Amino acid sequence: MAPATARRDPLGDAPAPRPVHRGARWTSNAVLKPVAAVTGTVMGAFVLVHMLGNLKVFQGADAYNSYAAWLRDVGYPLVPHDGVLWALRAVLATCLLLHVASALTLRLRGRRARGVFRRRGTRPAALGAGSMTVTGGLLLVFVAVHLLDLTIGRLVSPGSFQEAARSGGQLTAHAYENLLASLSRPGMAVFYTLVMLTLGLHLAQGLWTVAHDLGATGPRLRTVLAVTAVALALAVAVANGALPLLILTGVLS
Ligand code: HEM
Repeated sequence: MAPATARRDPLGDAPAPRPVHRGARWTSNAVLKPVAAVTGTVMGAFVLVHMLGNLKVFQGADAYNSYAAWLRDVGYPLVPHDGVLWALRAVLATCLLLHVASALTLRLRGRRARGVFRRRGTRPAALGAGSMTVTGGLLLVFVAVHLLDLTIGRLVSPGSFQEAARSGGQLTAHAYENLLASLSRPGMAVFYTLVMLTLGLHLAQGLWTVAHDLGATGPRLRTVLAVTAVALALAVAVANGALPLLILTGVLS
């Protein structure tokens, strides 16, 4: 087989695109595409459910803290305390790793396959697609900050983070107080809100791509799916994005 680097475009001077993929079958694009789609959908579903959980903040501290305590004890005594929570964490961490690895590999291969031929003057509709790497990167930073802040308690001002505590079999969580301590800082609240808008863009484009990959071809079905993707993404961006601002301005206290 001729070496890939020696290939030239027979019709011009531009180097011909390099072969896209020479790896094992399980790292082929045909595998990576559904991996990115399934893991992205699982994380999207988590974000939707997490948003519904966040809305409990409007019912007050007791409802929010009871929900946080329930999350740690769900399934008990069939499974140990925190068992379901740790299983969920394992699934999400695996999805995150697979999603980032497959999406980045597909994007790099796509760029390489296009070679020097780049599409110019893209329409606004391509904004989401073009920014997936940037919005995805920002979301990764957000997840790290968010976990350090509200799960591990390292970023909230010293002494103000309260761990969930068990006494006499009863678990008391302080997720509400921790949330307020975190998001009453202007920098953190604005960061959260900006990231939620970014998340909306990432989610809308991601859900639309999944619908597309599943083979939605009819114009009516495509319209319904596009509207659904945008509606879900808007719901997450608006509901999650408003929360930090409501806390910062003291509406939620
Ligand atoms: C304004 C938006 C958000 C708010 C107010 C919020 C709030 C919270 C709170 C209070 C906790 C701790 C819950 C507890 O102690 O039981 C938490 C945990 C978590 N959040 Fe969020 N969250 C937001 C957005 C997100 C987004 C967009 C993601 C994913 C991209 C996310 C992923 C997580 C994860 C993975 C955990 C850790 C669960 C665990 O392992 O205990 N959150 N969030």
